[in-house]
Amino acid sequence: MTALSKDNIVAVIGAGAMGAGIAQVAAQAGHPVRLFDAKEGAAERGRAGILAGLDRLVERGRLDAGAREAIAGRLVVAEALDDLQGASLVIEAIIENLDVKRKVFAALEGIVGSETILATNTSSLSVTAIATGLDHPGRVAGLHFFNPAPVMKLVEIVSGLASDRGALDTLFDTALAWGKAAVRTTSTPGFIVNRVARPFYAEGLRLLEEGAADAATIDAILREAGGFRMGPFELMDLIGHDVNYAVTRSVFDAYFGDPRFRPSLTQQELVAAGWLGRKSGRGFYDYGTDAEKPAP
Ligand code: NAI
Repeated sequence: MTALSKDNIVAVIGAGAMGAGIAQVAAQAGHPVRLFDAKEGAAERGRAGILAGLDRLVERGRLDAGAREAIAGRLVVAEALDDLQGASLVIEAIIENLDVKRKVFAALEGIVGSETILATNTSSLSVTAIATGLDHPGRVAGLHFFNPAPVMKLVEIVSGLASDRGALDTLFDTALAWGKAAVRTTSTPGFIVNRVARPFYAEGLRLLEEGAADAATIDAILREAGGFRMGPFELMDLIGHDVNYAVTRSVFDAYFGDPRFRPSLTQQELVAAGWLGRKSGRGFYDYGTDAEKPAP
């Protein structure tokens, strides 16, 4: 067993939907956690959101009040990237953009030790490309959680061309120790889940664009007849259209413009309007009032 030990510090960069969820998972597993976000106040908001979620669990009797206090105590906001020094594992969960991610990884190399594992939560970008140019590219690998991270069991452990076996094994065993179902895959565009999921969104969007049915009808059919937990539109609204559109573009580009993965103009428009889904209050659905929320 090569899982991290509980006293190893886990740092999370990006305190959005995924980063906050991942920080919660690591803190619940017993690690001291440092949460950093480049946007002012975002890490504090991320931490506050986690604590509010834990409070709801305590109210429902699903979490002990003492355990909530212990988790809160382990979860610390980092004011600067430099404060991540001393971490044994850094998990990056920032914007889905290769250049930005590479800059963050390059900066991290000057801060953390050469043994620190650098993991990316990217949904679709090449782990190989993220690691390229680093002094120690072998310690870079994908650790791909699903949304919401504290709830979803699956974690993809993604090997880039240069990833060391030892780093991959540690990530795999650590994910298991965190109660996750870990699966190994390579850095192929979209990995396993986001590759297979592309047509789920794309065909839904094509049906909508052809006027075959509205979003709510397609969602209801996929849920009720298809047995999916969520239909494509409510799931895209949950993921965030900025993220989902970036993933589609990245998979489309990585497959040299294969039309199977062509991005949707409808989704491009939603991103342009800032209608990003649940996180902005509006996407395919309006989240302004509870009455308009789609079924969970
Ligand atoms: P988000 O938009 O909710 O949060 C991203 C956070 O990163 C923001 O708080 C932003 O201020 C911060 N950030 C941006 N650039 C930064 C930088 N240079 N340094 C530090 N912080 C920075 O995004 P979300 O949904 O959490 O996605 C993050 C990553 O996780 C992306 O790579 C995405 O593809 C991946 N992912 C997303 C899933 C989803 O369902 N939303 C599922 C699985 C993976």
